[in-house]
Amino acid sequence: MNELTIRQPDDWHIHLRDDEMLERVLPFTAAQFARGIIMPNLKPPVINAQMAAAYRDRILAALPEGMQFEPLMTAYLTDTTDPAELEAGFASGVLTAVKLYPANATTNSAAGVSSIEHIRGCLEVMQRIGMPLLIHGEVVDPSIDIFDREAVFLERTLGPMLNDYPELKVVLEHITTSNSVDFVMDRPRNLAATITAHHLQINRNHMLVGGIRPHYYCLPIVKRASHQQALRVAATSGDARFFLGTDTAPHPISGKHSACGCAGVFTAPCALESYVQVFDEHQALDKFEAFASLNGPAFYGLPVNTGTITLKRQAHKMIGDIGEGPEAIRPYRMGESIPWSIA
Ligand code: DOR
Ligand code: ZN
Repeated sequence: MNELTIRQPDDWHIHLRDDEMLERVLPFTAAQFARGIIMPNLKPPVINAQMAAAYRDRILAALPEGMQFEPLMTAYLTDTTDPAELEAGFASGVLTAVKLYPANATTNSAAGVSSIEHIRGCLEVMQRIGMPLLIHGEVVDPSIDIFDREAVFLERTLGPMLNDYPELKVVLEHITTSNSVDFVMDRPRNLAATITAHHLQINRNHMLVGGIRPHYYCLPIVKRASHQQALRVAATSGDARFFLGTDTAPHPISGKHSACGCAGVFTAPCALESYVQVFDEHQALDKFEAFASLNGPAFYGLPVNTGTITLKRQAHKMIGDIGEGPEAIRPYRMGESIPWSIA
């Protein structure tokens, strides 16, 4: 198969940032995806429906003329989020989901949740109204090794939470381990997971052997090859619980090339091309539409897109830095030859 036409996909996990950065990165996402779940970890974070509606307006204002894209907004959970506000935001259609960052787990998460005890009222309401909870699944316990933080989160936090709220709709975001794959497979269907293109393509050797590659540094951090392999098998299996979420997360080069560099990989400019390459390598092109375009809408209870997109087995050279100097953004796979292109 040298050409593949699928329903237009959605990206169920995106960092679009704000202001000038938003203007620079949005066209890459809008060129590939019809809709996207927009992460709320701005400075300050988007913590309620009113802020989400204003952010949605800024995204739509930044969309170049002639491009279509529907931002699906999320609210950032804090220890003091008002459950009634979430319910109203969901009922009005402004909020599609709620994001749980354990406090200090990642970029701009300092105002996140310090203990599940603080959000029980929110979880109860969300379970009742069917509002999805999107989770950054890592513990922040300093005694836990960074490579184990996702697996420990499943045991310590997610398992007990799902036992307490068995009907809660949960997306475990950007999973990076075989532990998470197994955990999702073992639970009822109200638990799903997104998988990034970069976690399918790279493991910690790519990041660390022969020199440290800061543009592969993200959170949760890439793990050993056996975990990468488990993610590839899950994504290409066609199982409806796994779907596309790039976690595209742009940072200026000044933030990446630093003694204390930022976490995030800017994958938007070659997201679909990278995913389809993985499905091709697994002889699973027939499963790609489910992963990219069908499983996500089914989980969120949204219609699938009506348009289509065609991918071709035709190599193209990835673009270089976007912008110049320390404020430039370096895309994932910069300058590489990529075997698939969008027609
Ligand atoms: O690598 C990451 N970058 N992981 C996250 O959880 C946040 C994101 C960002 O906002 O830069
Ligand atoms: Zn993210």
